[in-house]
Amino acid sequence: MSVEWTHNLSVGITEIDDQHRELFKRANNLIDAISLGKSWEEVARLTAFYQNYLSAHYQTEEKYMIRYSDPLYVSHKAQHTLYLMEFSGIKQCLMCSDSDTAISLVQEAIVGWLSNHIEQSDKPMGRFIKSAKHKKAA
Ligand SMILES: [Fe+2]
Repeated sequence: MSVEWTHNLSVGITEIDDQHRELFKRANNLIDAISLGKSWEEVARLTAFYQNYLSAHYQTEEKYMIRYSDPLYVSHKAQHTLYLMEFSGIKQCLMCSDSDTAISLVQEAIVGWLSNHIEQSDKPMGRFIKSAKHKKAA
């Protein structure tokens, strides 16, 4: 059971799309490790691997929003900050759940959150940046 980045999740900025793809890849690796019954240490390592990349990815998005003066910067950044705080709780839950529950948790609380966030916040950001770039170039 895997989850994939698909083109309908594109925000129109290559650097950000590439990072989203990488996040899906890391979430898939985490699901695979849980399915295969890998050790607690390995699952913890892959969860941290996802979390670190997510944190760096948020900085990339925030850099774009600042550069182009995105009016939704403050609320968008707040969503990132809040989710990183929630992620610590999700990580704890992953470690103390059985494998089926842990896989559902990755699918819903990690991949589901990411897909929703891309739809609700990253795509509008992508559209804004595209039009801001266009105006700059004109
Ligand atoms: Fe975002």
